[in-house]
Amino acid sequence: MTKTTEARGSLPLPPGSFGLPLIGETVSFLRDRNFVNNRQKKYGPIFKTHIMGRPTVFMTGAEANRFILSSHMDRFSWREGWPDTFKELLGESLFLQEGAEHQRNRKLLMPAFHGKALGNYLSVMERMTQNYLQKWERLGSFTWFPEFKQLTFEIASFLLIGSEPGEETTQLSQWFTELTDGFFTVPLRWPWTTYGRALRARDRLLVHIEKAVLHRQQEPAQDALGLLVQSRDEEGNRLSMQELKVQALLMLFAGHETTTSMLTSFCMALAQHPDVWTRARAEQQKLAGDGSLTMEQIKQMTYLEQVLREVERLYPPVGGGFRCAIEPFEFNGYYVPKGWQITYRIPETHQDSRIFSQPEQFDPDRFK
Ligand code: HEM
Repeated sequence: MTKTTEARGSLPLPPGSFGLPLIGETVSFLRDRNFVNNRQKKYGPIFKTHIMGRPTVFMTGAEANRFILSSHMDRFSWREGWPDTFKELLGESLFLQEGAEHQRNRKLLMPAFHGKALGNYLSVMERMTQNYLQKWERLGSFTWFPEFKQLTFEIASFLLIGSEPGEETTQLSQWFTELTDGFFTVPLRWPWTTYGRALRARDRLLVHIEKAVLHRQQEPAQDALGLLVQSRDEEGNRLSMQELKVQALLMLFAGHETTTSMLTSFCMALAQHPDVWTRARAEQQKLAGDGSLTMEQIKQMTYLEQVLREVERLYPPVGGGFRCAIEPFEFNGYYVPKGWQITYRIPETHQDSRIFSQPEQFDPDRFK
């Protein structure tokens, strides 16, 4: 049913609409939460549109994901796939790298995100979370999302670049908000536009990160950036200053936006399902002990793991990702030309009743 092909033959392009000249369907894509859902219902698992200045194909469902992310992954480019705004704002980081370069950098970044290093981060996470718990108790009533955004950013910026909570981290967080506002916007570069502000924020963040790198180069440290500065591959190669800066920027971005969304959904789900909350809490009381948490204790929290997986399934923090077709291909009887932007999707597969029975229900026991 699916194959890559050089010839279009009699195959049609996927159904769908390119929308208006120039802007295509970009405005609906950015504003309409049901953009994909409505079109998937109308056209099926593959449809075409025109967003962010490019002809684009959305592919939904498990088969499409397998095709893009696994069986035919080498036919798709990461770098050419992500919108230009991502390329410019996140720079040449892991997110956009591919092939040998990607493999090399993943290896070099690994020491900061592996076994022992993760264990070392726990005490910081615990200390900062305790402070927030006390604050939340005092507040009594508050909104989870901004609180988690602040907490996860404080943890990420302390662990990655050693920035203590306070004025400096608040400033970094403000620049980050400006940076992320720039991903899905019209790339007009004037100082007063959203994109112009995003570029300025990126530059300021990079200057800040550079200072942190220089500091680690002079005084070796065991935090994530310190480990990245010391990291070497088998041939003794290390990450350059430019690489260290953009990879750290990516980590800060990738690490806190996603976890903020997930933690918020987690709290919402627990509040909506007191039975789940009671079981999760009982497990914590049994396994957490009185002292500091260890990785071994966390690994034993199997019910918590089930709950988190169900949160990720029902409320995926990331909706999908972009690729670019390096060569034409056929999928589901449709022809997709070379150079088109491809979007894989996460939520639609998680809602597929052939894979998850009663997919609309929150049920951690499905991951028993
Ligand atoms: C609930 C939490 C998270 C979710 C749902 C999530 C989701 C994702 C997804 C879907 C991708 C693939 C993007 C693509 O190639 O199309 C990705 C990549 C990535 N994420 Fe996360 N992420 C999470 C947490 C984190 C954290 C905590 C970090 C770092 C501290 C991180 C760092 C990265 C990096 C570096 C990549 C690029 C990996 C590569 O291309 O080799 N993520 N993430």
